[in-house]
This record gives sequence, structure tokens and C-alpha cells, in this order.
Amino acid sequence: MKLALCLLPLAFVTGLAAAELPHLRKQGTATQLMVDGQPFLMRGGELGNSSGEPDYLRSSWPKLQAMNLNTVLAPVYWDVIEPQEGKFDFATLDGLLRDAKASQMKLVLLWFGSWKNSMSCYAPAWVKRDQSRFPRAQDSAGRGLEILSPFAAANRDTDARAFAALMRHLKASDPDHTVIMVQVENEIGMIPEARDHSPEAEKAFAASVPPVLMDYLTRNRAQLAPELLAQWNAAGGKVAGTWAEVFGAGPAGEEIFMAWHFAAYTQAVTAAGKAELALPMYANAALIRPGYQPGQYPSAGPLPHLIDVWRAGAPDLDFLAPDIYFQNFSYWAQLYTRSGNPLFIPEAMRSPEASVNALYAFGALNGMGFCPFAIESNTEPAAGFLTASFDLVRQLTPLLTEKQGRGLTAGFLQESVESKQPQQVQMGNWTFRVAFERAAPPQLADGLAVVVGTENSALAAGGHAGTAPAGGLMIALGDDEFLFAGIGITITFAPAEGGEQAGLLSVAEGRYVDGQWQHIRWLNGDQTHQGRHVRLEPGRFSLQRVKLYRYR
Ligand code: DGJ
Repeated sequence: MKLALCLLPLAFVTGLAAAELPHLRKQGTATQLMVDGQPFLMRGGELGNSSGEPDYLRSSWPKLQAMNLNTVLAPVYWDVIEPQEGKFDFATLDGLLRDAKASQMKLVLLWFGSWKNSMSCYAPAWVKRDQSRFPRAQDSAGRGLEILSPFAAANRDTDARAFAALMRHLKASDPDHTVIMVQVENEIGMIPEARDHSPEAEKAFAASVPPVLMDYLTRNRAQLAPELLAQWNAAGGKVAGTWAEVFGAGPAGEEIFMAWHFAAYTQAVTAAGKAELALPMYANAALIRPGYQPGQYPSAGPLPHLIDVWRAGAPDLDFLAPDIYFQNFSYWAQLYTRSGNPLFIPEAMRSPEASVNALYAFGALNGMGFCPFAIESNTEPAAGFLTASFDLVRQLTPLLTEKQGRGLTAGFLQESVESKQPQQVQMGNWTFRVAFERAAPPQLADGLAVVVGTENSALAAGGHAGTAPAGGLMIALGDDEFLFAGIGITITFAPAEGGEQAGLLSVAEGRYVDGQWQHIRWLNGDQTHQGRHVRLEPGRFSLQRVKLYRYR
């Protein structure tokens, strides 16, 4: 007994064992976030930029809990934590940690350091005021931009020092790991020109492409993002030379140059933070509006066509993440699964569609998390739909995380009311055809349809006023048994190999409580069109368990 005690780590004996550090693990084709020893599906919401102070946020926690969130993404402001150089004040973070913990919520911290949506508005005053020590990016006319230049070692090292202090503080003050992940910077990008023209940047642009990038691209040539490969090939496919020689002198080549330098800077910041506390870390991107060219959109961020440059330049980042505010959700989400990148959506449009986009991300793309933006401002009807879909994700988390990455899950999404095309999915021995159906807009007394939201609204992005969304996910429970979760989907089925016909043995509506199926009712007759289909009715999220059989 005595011997056994001696062999136990001291922390265990004294009851001070630190909780396991959140980390990523692979399961088949999926990457899962492990929290407290379990795979974690993040039902998240990101706070509005100026809602991260605990006193301001305090009254919102019950609302965040009621939406079935398990995680809040909260900014940490560089100017607030380091008001004077080298003097750190973590009171805001400590307050957030306390309140999140009291609300049984996890946190993802967003490091608003050198860059926030391209700009450097969160740099402390002592950085902003000292332009000679902390150089700015410049436009081609030599005018300074409010963007810290990624070519200045002082900028990089000062940011890295603050980020390291933040992570060191977290290590000391968050032993239970309320904070499960960290975003490094926010929507890095160059605008309104494709590259920095400061003297240091000019020098770097005239220099050779670093061999480490050339080697990476050469080694991974067969798997490179097609746009990057095309750009490289168009410039002659050289394996050495200046940036303009290797990637072309135009904006697309300039963007690759900037991406490398942004990535290398972010790598230094990330490494400094991970040396203190090695939580999973990622960088997020503002996506590209159709038809925009480098310089017209925030260029050179962790975008899908630059994924290889970012990987080579910032190997300590665990993944790259999209902020998806566009209606073509599945297009962007799929691009962020390129070459094994795990899908995590730190920001999404706050609209009724968010509820089904979340199910699609988890079911079709092994998503790790989904987080609408400015979540504390979510209003009906978007809030109601999200609450219901996150309730399904909560119920299904043990099952989904068991099946992800093994070809046993799928997702369905109707991205616009106009797209009438059913979706086809093959799983195991069956082919499923999924058609979509939306509930009619709720009507106001005077007959006008309800209009959804204002800021970041569905309407602004071409969404649908007042219509319930349509979409869902599916999980294989066995060879002939499947679970469907969603809203407004009608599923028909056939044996994948053809020949025989498919019929329904049973359809049950139910819910999972603590991982156990609880039967609500058998669905048959009109509810299955007399055995012809499975229908998750429009306007209401539900869960159905279906057994199929074959007949000749
Ligand atoms: C994306 C940014 O990352 C957020 O911080 C915020 O500015 C939103 N855009 C606003 O839509």
C-alpha cells in the first residue's frame, strides 16, 4: 500500500491533479477536439467585438445557456490587457473565466492582438503612438495604414510577448481548462492593396522565396491547392527565384508573398503562446466576395487557396478556419476540409439558416464546432431554430463523435429556397434521396411576412425572410438502421446495388436522454406516406430512427 502510494504522482495524492489539457486527436478522416477526456462538439457562439467585458456580459449568460450553447468565443483585447508596456492586467479575463465556469460554459479565447479584420485597432496606445518603433504597413504611395507591418520584428516580438503572458496567466488561473482553444489574431488580411510597400516589405519582396517554402511546395506538389499550383505553374513553375519570378509580379503573386509573411509572424506569436500553454490554436479568415481580386478583399489571410502557404509558414497552428457569412455555406465549408484541415466555424451568419448549417457541418464534414456571430444579440426566429438544432446536437454528441470520420454520417442542406434539387447520399448498402420543404413564413396580423434580423441578417446575405430552414444530418446505426435529425426533409431510399426495392420496417420519433433512446411515438400511415418515405416535417426539428428492408 505504502509502495503503491509512493508510485502515484504527488499531485494525485494531494488531490491537485490538473485536468487533462484539451487537445486534438484523429479518428478516421475526422479530427476531434478532446475536452475532459471526451470528444467535444462545440455548440458555440461568438460574442460581438465589444461584448467581452464581464460586467457588460453578465446578464447575457442565462440567454446563452438557454440557446443550448456549450462554448462562448470571447475576445481578449491587447490594449486592455497591456495598457502600459510590460504591465499586464488580466482582470477582464479573470471575470470572464469566473462567469463562464459558473454557467458551465467553455471558452475559446480570440487574441485581438496585432490584427483584427486586417486593422490594428486593438494595439495598445503605446504601440499605436510609436510608429518608428512599431512600423505600419504602407500603400504604394508610401502612406501608412493602420495595419502593423508583418515585416517588423519589433511588432512580432511585442505581440508574441503579450500573447505569451496571456497564456502564462491562463496556465496559472485556469487549471480546469474552461478555455479549450485559442484563436491567434482575427481575420488577418491586407487591404486596400495586395501587399505592404513599407521599406522592409520592399526589401523582402525583392529577395528570394525562402527555401523552406519552396521545399514544402515541391514536396507537397501533388496535394497543393489547385489555385496555388496554377499560379505557380503560370509563372513558370520555378523552384527558386524572387517572389515575382516564382509566383508572378501581379496581385496574386503579391498575395502569396504576404501570406507567407503573415503566416511566419503568426507562427512566432503562436509558438510563444504554446510554449506557455499548449492549447489547440487556429487562425480564422474573412472569405472572398465573388469577383473580388487580391487587394480588394482582405488578402493573404488563411484562405483556402493559400492553405499550403499558411501550413508551411505557421506549422504550430492546428488548423485554419472560415468565418462563413455567405449563403453558399457548403461551398466554403467544404473548401476548409482541404488536405485534412479539420472543419471548425468560429463565425457564422446569425440567421435561421445557422441551425441547419450547423447540422450539415457536423454530419457531412466531421465538423468540430459551429458558432454564429454576435450570439448575445440573437433574436427570434433565428434564436429559436438554433436552440432546437443545438438541442439535437447535444443529444447526438456521443453517437456523432463515435461515428465521425468513419463514413457513417452525412449531412443535407437546402441553401436557397430556389434550389429544388434533391440531394443524393450513398451510405453502406443504401442510396438516400433527400428532398427539401420549408414551412411557410409566419404571418403578421396585417398579412406581412416576418422579416428576420437586421445586423448580419439573412436578408443582407441573400437569405430568406421569415422562412424556416431545411436540412439535417444522418447517422448509420447499423447496416439497415439509420437516424435522421433535422427539419423539412423527406427521404426516400433504394438498395445501392439496384434490383430489389426498399421498404420501411419501422420509423420511430424519439429523443436521446443521457445517451439512451427514448421513444415518443411510432410514425406510420400518413406520417410516412403509407410506408413510402420518411419525413421530418417542415418548421420543426425532430429525430427519427428508421429501419429499412428489401423486397422484390
Ligand atoms: C468578422 C470579424 O471577424 C468579427 O470580429 C466581426 O467584425 C464580424 N466580421 C462583423 O460582421
